[in-house]
Amino acid sequence: MNKISEIGSTFFAYLRRPDLYPELRRKIWKNIFNRSSGLRGKEDAEKWCASQAISEEEFIENILKITFVPFEKLFPQEFEMALQAQAKSPVKMGGAGALSVIYYINEFTDSKESIETGVAYGWSSFAALASLVSRNGTLYSSDMPYILQNNSSDFVGCVIPEDYRHNWDLFRYADKESLPKIFAKADAFDVVHYDSDKTYDGRMWAYDLLWNKLRNRGVFMSDDVGDNAAFKDFCEKNSHQPYIIKFDGKYAGVIIKE
Ligand SMILES: C[S@@+](CC[C@H](N)C(=O)[O-])C[C@H]1O[C@@H](n2cnc3c(N)ncnc32)[C@H](O)[C@@H]1O
Repeated sequence: MNKISEIGSTFFAYLRRPDLYPELRRKIWKNIFNRSSGLRGKEDAEKWCASQAISEEEFIENILKITFVPFEKLFPQEFEMALQAQAKSPVKMGGAGALSVIYYINEFTDSKESIETGVAYGWSSFAALASLVSRNGTLYSSDMPYILQNNSSDFVGCVIPEDYRHNWDLFRYADKESLPKIFAKADAFDVVHYDSDKTYDGRMWAYDLLWNKLRNRGVFMSDDVGDNAAFKDFCEKNSHQPYIIKFDGKYAGVIIKE
């Protein structure tokens, strides 16, 4: 599909979904007036991340004080089945992040309620739920419908093991619509994992909101914090002391709420 026909198909796919009209309005506005939001301050953010980055293992062992065993070694059978489910999915989506970090921040907080934005195949959901199910906790997730793909809702979260799904509550809207619906069901969380709208403005809107819903001693995590300066600015503005974790050539930011 060339760029023009992709824009046309996306537009008409949105028109068929009245529940997504608010997101369509925001996308049109962003594409006309705010195109730089994705990469704003990227150079500074990357330097800032590189100057303090630690590995997954260092974070888990030295900061969380938990013995590090990689997530895929803790749950080898479930992990193998998840790889198979991903291979079978006809829909191409975003891949896995720092799964061990996600699992261990849920363990560290003894989380009963966690929230994540951005699901795709569901690797991060799988990692959070692997911890949450042991306490019968709940993961609340937000992800946009994949509007260009037919029946893609059957594939969002496809790698999540079947017996974890009772503990999973998925909201299929843009975050601006999903988050208020989630907050109507749960008002405070032990873990926040942000991995959806990566623009500067999208992050700044959601970071403030999600931070205020995080319990004391809760853990806030955001992926791809080197993409633009939103996470750096959020930390500096609020005097948060973050940990920056380098994983697969990208950076995740984590803050423990004191
Ligand atoms: C990188 S993927 C998530 C990967 C997942 N967290 C993992 O680690 O396995 C990003 C997801 O965010 C979703 N997304 C992007 N913008 C969004 C928005 N404004 N509201 C809700 N979801 C959004 C996309 O549909 C996509 O599935």
